[in-house]
Amino acid sequence: AANGSKAGKTRNIVEKMEESNKNCVVFYGSQTGTAEDYASRLAKEGKSRFGLETMVADLEDYDYENLDTFPEGHVAMFVLATYGEGEPTDNAVDFNEFITGEGPSFTNDADPPLGNLKFVAFGLGNNTYEHYNSMVRNVTAALEKLGAQRIGAAGEGDDGAGTMEEDFLAWKDPMWTELQEKMGLEEREAVYEPVFAITERENLTKDSPEVYLGEPNKMHLEGTARGPFNAHNPYIAPIAESRELFTDKARNCLHMEIDISGSNLSYQTGDHIAIWPTNSGKETDRFLNVTGLLSKRDEVISVKALDATAKVPFPTPTTYDAVVRYHMEICAPVSRQFIATLAPFAPTEAAKAEMAKLGSDKDYFHEKISNNYLNIAQALQEVGGDEKWTAIPFSAFIEGVNKVQPRYYSISSSSLVQKDKISVTAIVESIDLKDRESLKGVTTNYLLALKQCQHGDSSPDPHGLTYNITGPRNKYDGVHVPVHVRHSNFKLPSDPSKPVIMVGPGTGVAPFRAFVQERAQQMKSGQPVGRTLLFFGCRKQTEDFLYSNEWKGYKEILGDKFDLITAFSREGETKVYVQHRLQERAKEVNQLLEQKAYFYVCGDAANMAREVNTILGKIISEQRSIPEAKAEEIVKGMRSANQYQEDVWS
Ligand code: 2AM
Repeated sequence: AANGSKAGKTRNIVEKMEESNKNCVVFYGSQTGTAEDYASRLAKEGKSRFGLETMVADLEDYDYENLDTFPEGHVAMFVLATYGEGEPTDNAVDFNEFITGEGPSFTNDADPPLGNLKFVAFGLGNNTYEHYNSMVRNVTAALEKLGAQRIGAAGEGDDGAGTMEEDFLAWKDPMWTELQEKMGLEEREAVYEPVFAITERENLTKDSPEVYLGEPNKMHLEGTARGPFNAHNPYIAPIAESRELFTDKARNCLHMEIDISGSNLSYQTGDHIAIWPTNSGKETDRFLNVTGLLSKRDEVISVKALDATAKVPFPTPTTYDAVVRYHMEICAPVSRQFIATLAPFAPTEAAKAEMAKLGSDKDYFHEKISNNYLNIAQALQEVGGDEKWTAIPFSAFIEGVNKVQPRYYSISSSSLVQKDKISVTAIVESIDLKDRESLKGVTTNYLLALKQCQHGDSSPDPHGLTYNITGPRNKYDGVHVPVHVRHSNFKLPSDPSKPVIMVGPGTGVAPFRAFVQERAQQMKSGQPVGRTLLFFGCRKQTEDFLYSNEWKGYKEILGDKFDLITAFSREGETKVYVQHRLQERAKEVNQLLEQKAYFYVCGDAANMAREVNTILGKIISEQRSIPEAKAEEIVKGMRSANQYQEDVWS
């Protein structure tokens, strides 16, 4: 690809940097967008503080054979998330293979191949998983082996401990100091330079056909969307059904059926569905209000990147309202670094000082902002009172607020039973905060609003969130939702006669409803089906017992092959959890494992999944009369052999 390439098209990173006069590339390996966001933040900071000519690069967009021609005096940064069981993110698979593979073949004969490459590295991981930050560790080791010079320590952020942001901040400052020395950089007074130019388009209105109002791309705008549908091109799927699963009136849990017939989307039992949310009217209004954009919300704007390597993260022309409502993750907790960058634009001297203090004093920031889970608009309200923050350039928000990411849900239907309809089982999140508005899950509350709309309520308004889902365009008409499918490795054994043990309290039961459906279907079609044990836990039989009326039907088909074992945690004096039930059934559980049963866990990663893992070790140790350490080795072995599979979230 080295010859004949056009600007913006080359896959040769060295050429790309030369073409665009860059001396610092920030590569990211990102699955859900966090690593990408950190990469842009590093690029911005490098530029504004040290005058580095930075660019951000998706690892997927480049080849690596010519990394050995990386010019002296340039620097590469790697921001790498570790995904699932220690895997690289989808966009980093090829890079990871190349760099950690046996003798990667480079275009030059440099020795060592990467002797010229200076690099820094930061990893995003989760210590509740076994292969903590393995991606950044492996890549760092591989780069060093190839002769590259690491600058600063390879940082590791821990999502499990909830310290990702602070880990990142604590890593980057000493890194910058060392980089400054090694590259002879001068720190300067940080100057804000917008990355994007915003033009108001007076000749257009929000009803003009070329104006985007949340549509993800041109085909969607023109109503000619076709597949393949994926993360770049979601399918706007009809909702076939939507109903409430809880009898407990205080909480909601939705069962939705999403119709994918005719879309060419397909799924397999155990896969995930990605759902693209819309921000609530309440949060959209709050943001537009505090930034002084409320009166201009429907003005049409075009956005252009001022730097050839930056990408506008949404299609234009569009409106301020649509950008905020559909494309910005405005409900997420605001970061300390972003607060610091906004200080110069504060409406009053007092607000400016307060922003600077929040930006530099970690403990103060926690007390005032993070501990209250404030989002960007709430933080600006908190600091500025009734003042409007009109001096903040809109570009700063496009750069600093993450772009909306889809949320993934474990599919709760079997593709063998209903290949054209995907079921979702989602608890509607709402967390009570002391003395403050409760914290509302963005996507699940949106789904709840869609349910109201489905049921014929023309102004759905659950919890006063005022979703705009009956807007002018049929894409967001309340009975469609943008989706795509993500394939997973969470799968039933290919031989249905193998026994399975499933542990899924709460909505962790979702994929297991699919598994049981599938086994019942296999039984009906005359296949031999093995023992099927499902451990399910919830608060009370009468409140949140998911699919309580369905299990009997599966039992009728599967007979003594199937047992549902329940743990109701709030019915007696003491808590009863799924792991207690596992312990009570120790003998059978162990026997089934000895018959090579597959063991599955779905649900909460931080506590439940860990405790189940521990109990399983205990069960094996007791039942087989072997030391616990030995039993733990067996459990580990089961994991690496895929006999122990997890679909967990935190
Ligand atoms: P609790 O809320 O009464 O503590 C689904 O959320 C079920 O999982 C509930 O019954 C909940 O009980 C239970 N649960 C909470 N923590 C758990 C843990 N560490 N292990 C297993 N189940 C747990």
